[in-house]
Amino acid sequence: MKYDVKDLKLAKKGKLRIEWASDNMPVLNLIQKRFRREKPLTGTKIACCLHVTTETAVLMLTLKAGGARAVLCASNPLSTQDDVAASLVRDYRVPVFAIKGEDHKTYYGHIEAALAGRPDLTMDDGADLVSTIHKKKGPYPVGGTEETTTGVIRLRAMEKDGALEYPIIAVNDARTKYLFDNRYGTGQSTIDGIIRATNKLIAGTDFVVCGYGWCGRGVAMRAKGLGANVIIVEVDPFKALEAVMDGLRVMPIARAAKVGDIFCTLTGDINVIRPEHFKAMKDKAIVCNSGHFNVEIDIPGLNKASRKKRMTRDFVEEFVQKDGRRLYLLGDGRLINLAAAEGHPAQVMDMSFANQALCAEFMKENNDTLERRVYKVPEKIDKGIAELKLASMGVKIDALTPEQVKYLASWELGT
Ligand code: NAI
Repeated sequence: MKYDVKDLKLAKKGKLRIEWASDNMPVLNLIQKRFRREKPLTGTKIACCLHVTTETAVLMLTLKAGGARAVLCASNPLSTQDDVAASLVRDYRVPVFAIKGEDHKTYYGHIEAALAGRPDLTMDDGADLVSTIHKKKGPYPVGGTEETTTGVIRLRAMEKDGALEYPIIAVNDARTKYLFDNRYGTGQSTIDGIIRATNKLIAGTDFVVCGYGWCGRGVAMRAKGLGANVIIVEVDPFKALEAVMDGLRVMPIARAAKVGDIFCTLTGDINVIRPEHFKAMKDKAIVCNSGHFNVEIDIPGLNKASRKKRMTRDFVEEFVQKDGRRLYLLGDGRLINLAAAEGHPAQVMDMSFANQALCAEFMKENNDTLERRVYKVPEKIDKGIAELKLASMGVKIDALTPEQVKYLASWELGT
């Protein structure tokens, strides 16, 4: 079996941590049990490009239980947990190509390695597999799935241009994904990453969140809960209005730059914080990103504006400006929740990866009828996961009575 991980000796710790995640993923475990019985993915080659975390390991074991031949590479050079990669290889015989901190060439070499077996399905987080396959003009798999907002945006652009060569299911857009993973997962783990990297007190800080989408809302909510004065930067008037009515201050980045103590971007956009903003920032301002790519902060611009730089703590780089002010960039501008912390907690990844597993099964069964488009997660899968998650939490809800069903479907009744 081919693989490339940091050190197989790390496997013992990785195995224990994978077990911990698995214990918190009841829905995925139910799917894993059924997959073991029914083997719906027998012989299916699946290339997965995901953050190599404990939760991803549980997904890999689920795909394997279903009979798939799954291989894993990282979807970000800094997000790999080396102990998990080691355990997947040593304890579970899953081929992994991922090393935390790998350089650009190794990162793409690992993507090539994951694609070398000519997968039937791809499972992406940021569309790197899809774009690599399209750049090489095939061979094209029969289908794929996409985990994150940025990937779905890329894929929809490809679909619009008629450039997408095989069907993809947008797992990100399932309600059991973005409402929980993006909001509560990113919310908690981003704050966790900032705290682990800096050990700073959040209370009393002016905390600037760029982007009030699902991820930004989560981070803003948790920062507020820790006592920060949260400032939102937005370009969408509806989101900005929502932030105002959620009790937050909203202002342009040019103004926020002057007051912020901590800045976090979660927009999926490019160059949201630029040199003119670095120029306005206070001494010791902290800048980080939790959006998918490390393009939200203009890091080349920060380098240019700086007199010198050095690492002051793990994941904290000090940039001394020409006027002597010090700015701190966390985690190289990469997703701070994965660079400095462990990514989303298992309880939310339970739902995201239940979607991934069931969509892989759906894609295998239905690829011959699907077109070269980006598809939604089937409602039956999404709703089924919500019901299973509630059941696993011991939460019961009501069902509509026949009278209510009739009432809600009619326009003559109840006036
Ligand atoms: P979203 O589409 O719900 O929100 C993005 C928000 O950013 C929108 O409200 C948009 O108006 C705003 N925005 C765009 N350009 C802006 C600019 N120049 N200045 C200020 N605001 C701007 O997207 P979502 O789901 O919140 O995802 C955001 C990013 O986070 C994506 O790149 C996504 O892939 C990534 N992501 C990261 C995760 C993590 O583990 N850190 C987990 C899930 C998603």
